[in-house]
Amino acid sequence: MKILAFESSCDETAAAVVEDGRRVLSDVIASQADMHALYGGVVPEIASRKHTEVIATLTEQALAQAGCTRQDIDAVAVTYAPGLIGAVLVGLSFAKSVAFGWGVPLIPVHHLRGHIAANYLAFPDLEPPFLALAVSGGNTMIVDVEDYTRMKILGATRDDAAGECFDKAARVLGLPYPGGKPMDELAQQSKGGVYALPRAKVDGAELDMSFSGLKTAVVNLAHHAQQVGEPLDRAALARDFAGAVSQELVPRVVKAARLAGRKTVVAAGGVAANSIIRADLERAAKEESWRLYLPPLKLCGDNGAMIGAQGYYEYLAGHTAGMDCNAFATLDIDAPFPAGR
Ligand code: KG4
Repeated sequence: MKILAFESSCDETAAAVVEDGRRVLSDVIASQADMHALYGGVVPEIASRKHTEVIATLTEQALAQAGCTRQDIDAVAVTYAPGLIGAVLVGLSFAKSVAFGWGVPLIPVHHLRGHIAANYLAFPDLEPPFLALAVSGGNTMIVDVEDYTRMKILGATRDDAAGECFDKAARVLGLPYPGGKPMDELAQQSKGGVYALPRAKVDGAELDMSFSGLKTAVVNLAHHAQQVGEPLDRAALARDFAGAVSQELVPRVVKAARLAGRKTVVAAGGVAANSIIRADLERAAKEESWRLYLPPLKLCGDNGAMIGAQGYYEYLAGHTAGMDCNAFATLDIDAPFPAGR
């Protein structure tokens, strides 16, 4: 089954053709990051307008690269939640028109389920059940993936997402947006151990996380150094910051895996590209005897192929939608289908 898939929930417009949820026939992405870099973060209206400009051309490219015509496409999958609502609506409306015009089913896909499914593309042997750490620019959570479309959130951030925190910390260190990758590169120049940063605990919910205190601590540290004219060891701060984020995440993944009785662990989302978090997960995997799956870097960030992968399994579960399908800015990954009913 060949699925044409779309992703437009933030600042990447992406289209892909994926066969049977596992084989990428094409995957094209138009990133707007340079444009938003001018403002130090994503400007929602600009994001929506850029998606509108490029989505039709990307579709033609995705079909051409896959060696497909419209007659070869069996269904259309699209991110319908969560994300910047205007941006999501562009992709959803376009996908609806394609599905309607070509007379094929429309499959709405939860963006974070897509991030987890990116691993199905990289690892043919991976099958649920497993535990997933999903960390992106807008979400951070630990999810028990019981089956391809049945999931349970075991812990989540109570405030900022880890990626957002990386982006804000990068900004005060004078690094470009999106800041996760440049922070990672800067951190590799230091062993750290210079700055003591706070760790958060949520009373009564040991698997929940909080990143806003950590973010504020880095911002205050940088501003204070600037005001009093103290030199700032930027590389050490980047290293200690990444270490602190990883220490929020990895010990909780260990606890969650023990609680859920899972020995297979998967990472997903843009922040899963972080070298310190990956190294800490690998260490934990050795200690806990996990089968650990870390997606290749190009599958960590937003892409269309991951939506095609999850779309296939949503289709098998009967999760197709009519032309009244709506978009949602927020939606839990474990919300029953159809959403909003
Ligand atoms: O998954 P993603 O591409 O988009 C969302 O769905 O949000 O994640 C983007 C986030 C950004 O916050 C970016 O700074 C972060 O992933 N990121 C990283 C790294 N590469 C990207 N964060 C830490 N270390 C990295 N190497």
